[in-house]
Amino acid sequence: MPKIDNLKAIQVLDSRGLPTISTEVMLDDGTRANAMVPSGASTGQKEALELRDGGNAFHGKGVKKAIRNVNETMKSALIGKNPLDQDHIDQILIDLDDTNDKSNLGANAILSVSIASAKASSKSENLDLHNYFNILMGNKMGNSIDQVIPIPMLNILNGGEHADNNVDIQEFMVIPKGASSFSQAMQWSSEIYWNLKDILKKKGLSTAVGDEGGFAPNLSSNREALELISLAVEKTSLNMGSDIFISLDCAASEFFKDGIYHLKGEDKKLSNSEFVEYLKVLVRDFPIISIEDGMDENDFDGWKILTEEIGNECQLVGDDLFVTNPEILKKGIKKEIANSVLIKYNQIGTITETLETISIALNNNYKNIISHRSGETEDSSISDLAVGTGVGQIKTGAPCRSERVAKYNRLYWIDEKNSFPYG
Ligand code: PGA
Ligand code: ZN
Repeated sequence: MPKIDNLKAIQVLDSRGLPTISTEVMLDDGTRANAMVPSGASTGQKEALELRDGGNAFHGKGVKKAIRNVNETMKSALIGKNPLDQDHIDQILIDLDDTNDKSNLGANAILSVSIASAKASSKSENLDLHNYFNILMGNKMGNSIDQVIPIPMLNILNGGEHADNNVDIQEFMVIPKGASSFSQAMQWSSEIYWNLKDILKKKGLSTAVGDEGGFAPNLSSNREALELISLAVEKTSLNMGSDIFISLDCAASEFFKDGIYHLKGEDKKLSNSEFVEYLKVLVRDFPIISIEDGMDENDFDGWKILTEEIGNECQLVGDDLFVTNPEILKKGIKKEIANSVLIKYNQIGTITETLETISIALNNNYKNIISHRSGETEDSSISDLAVGTGVGQIKTGAPCRSERVAKYNRLYWIDEKNSFPYG
């Protein structure tokens, strides 16, 4: 059995130019593996804590303390341990931290070690990372899991906290569900993206991009965003509702205040049931098959109405609502709200707990979508996570900006080397 020989974390930068952690795990058989962690902007209140230094340097976003926690506390606890026992490694980290929200050592610090350790294990075992994750997922479920190349959701128009425009809904994604392969899905999406750029340009609208690589023009309404995307799909000679479907991430907590959903871009103030009606009309008029965070993360009455009204026809995804937390997801399932969960491993802080959340969803007929964060790096391990867990869906931004494309490019290679089904 290999043993952990050393750990080293350093500060690197993420896609927003802010500090993040890169950690290398070294094993006594000479294996080395590195992981970098992402960071959110429209974060859920109950996410595990991302440890930042505060003060003046890097606008308070430094990660020196978190790095020290890896290089001192975690290193001394993990040297000599067997990295192949991911549950045990993660449990050591959880116990060392000893808080509910990982605020002692920092979820960013802990996750960097958890992923780097998994990567080192897969390398040491001569397994591609997705195969390694597949074994871990199988162990969690108690049966073997079929690997799948996930259907991508590509965020081609950005609003909300990810852009400085006036569009309230945070993400407008295309789902190339009608494609027969991953490469066809990516070709369609890239062509739609470029046609959208062309359409925006001709209308005199901005083609600058937001945090996740989608265009971020000022528009008169959320509906206008959907109309522009429909035009781009048509210009690509594809059909909405058979080739291409739409997914929204409202990130509604960002525009919910004092019990009101305030769409500033179109000057509307709506109650939860009125906002459900607003979404229902969009679902009626466009092939929207997935809505994430359609309601505020604490508006459980709103979530109940939304789930009852469109839960049968639409995937309703809890991101800020469930924050990849097994206990919070269980409570949501009990309340019968939403029917899917967004999986971001930095919301919870370890691979083991992430797999736990995925397994709870699978056992309760909730769907899983593996997701990037708006602040990303070139680390592409979420692509392997998506394939290895067999969940069938990934959202990782536009087909633009290398920190987004790195994930798609990794999927191209996994697809090339294996004969896993698409979607
Ligand atoms: P975040 O956005 O990474 O800024 O939280 C992504 C999302 O809300 O899905
Ligand atoms: Zn979200």
